[in-house]
Amino acid sequence: MKTTEVRLGSRSYPVFVGEGILARLSGLLTRLGFSSAPVVVSNPRVFKLHGDSLRRSLEAAYGPAPVVFIGDGERFKNIASLQKVYQGLIRAGADRRSWVLALGGGVVGDLAGFAAATFVRGIPYVNVPTTLLAQVDSAIGGKVGINLKQGKNLIGAFHQPSAVLSDIGTLRTLPSRELASGLYEVLKCGVIRSEKLILYIERNLQAILSASPSALEHVVLEASRIKAAVVSSDEMEAKQRMILNYGHTVGHALEAATGYRRFKHGEAVAWGMMAAVGFGRELGLLEEKSAQRLLRLIHRVTKLPTLRGISPGRVWNALGRDKKFAGGRIRMVLLPRLGAAEIRNDIDPANLKRFLKNFIESSSNI
Ligand SMILES: NC(=O)c1ccc[n+]([C@@H]2O[C@H](COP(=O)([O-])OP(=O)(O)OC[C@H]3O[C@@H](n4cnc5c(N)ncnc54)[C@H](O)[C@@H]3O)[C@@H](O)[C@H]2O)c1
Ligand SMILES: [Zn+2]
Repeated sequence: MKTTEVRLGSRSYPVFVGEGILARLSGLLTRLGFSSAPVVVSNPRVFKLHGDSLRRSLEAAYGPAPVVFIGDGERFKNIASLQKVYQGLIRAGADRRSWVLALGGGVVGDLAGFAAATFVRGIPYVNVPTTLLAQVDSAIGGKVGINLKQGKNLIGAFHQPSAVLSDIGTLRTLPSRELASGLYEVLKCGVIRSEKLILYIERNLQAILSASPSALEHVVLEASRIKAAVVSSDEMEAKQRMILNYGHTVGHALEAATGYRRFKHGEAVAWGMMAAVGFGRELGLLEEKSAQRLLRLIHRVTKLPTLRGISPGRVWNALGRDKKFAGGRIRMVLLPRLGAAEIRNDIDPANLKRFLKNFIESSSNI
């Protein structure tokens, strides 16, 4: 097992990464000072696969832990599920000394974390992420929240977890499409901060995609280190944390323009990164060799859902609704080189609009 840390003074917390963490969970949790059973939040699918080993571990230290189930999928990251978690907390007799343990992907983690942030004005929570995306991204950094019909993550808070425990073993049961989608967020971490991580993915892609524990441990740890370091330097996303949005300006717009049905999040980010590479190349930022190298790797990970039939106008409108517009200019993260990112506030909307139309039309045949 390896460890990294999010450093935020008295709210600092460890991120554990390794195989078999679920089985030794209670030892880690008691060492962190948790002396009573948590209220567990999960979904039926994840709990069926990994609940027993969590339950056994918790029971040994604390006796039985109550479990609240929310539905499986993004559409359950909503107010009704939140209400269910509050009610489960109340049924379990929870008070200000209680704590929540989230077992699942980003949906469970975001929702359980928001419940913890708001229940009796905030109780601690621990993230036990079970998707690659959640391990390297959503579980770290304290952004918690739910969706409204009108938009994703419209309700939320910053509430840092007390610990993140990423058991690599849980990724063995993850569908391959989810694994590949999460890998694009790992790649993004490399692209903005670590050329070494890009090289590792290039050299070990097959091992990662076939869920080799040592390869997964390496990439989860490295990406977690990067996310943890960025969050430590800018918790509230005043500036530096925005670099984690590389590929997300166009990625989010593609997701919204297709009603969140066509792409997994990481797949949309992959298209978004390709768009950002192309746009950066047009601006003369990224050298051709590096651009080609990144595009090649993105294509090697998996065959992405096509852009065919997506109206550039709808993508553009969705992009406008996103938070990244700042005073008539668009904010975008671009790469001066691989392993380094730059936040640009001076993107000319007309230029990006024209680029995007070409990008979508010319990529539609892939
Ligand atoms: N808080 C943040 O900073 C942040 C960052 C990125 C994304 N997010 C959020 O994360 C969510 C997406 O997370 P996700 O990609 O993990 O999706 P998800 O939670 O929906 O999980 C994907 C699917 O995999 C299943 N699953 C989870 N673990 C499994 C396992 N070990 N084996 C088999 N199946 C398993 C889930 O039940 C689900 O069907 C979105 O709501 C997004 O907004 C938040
Ligand atoms: Zn993302």
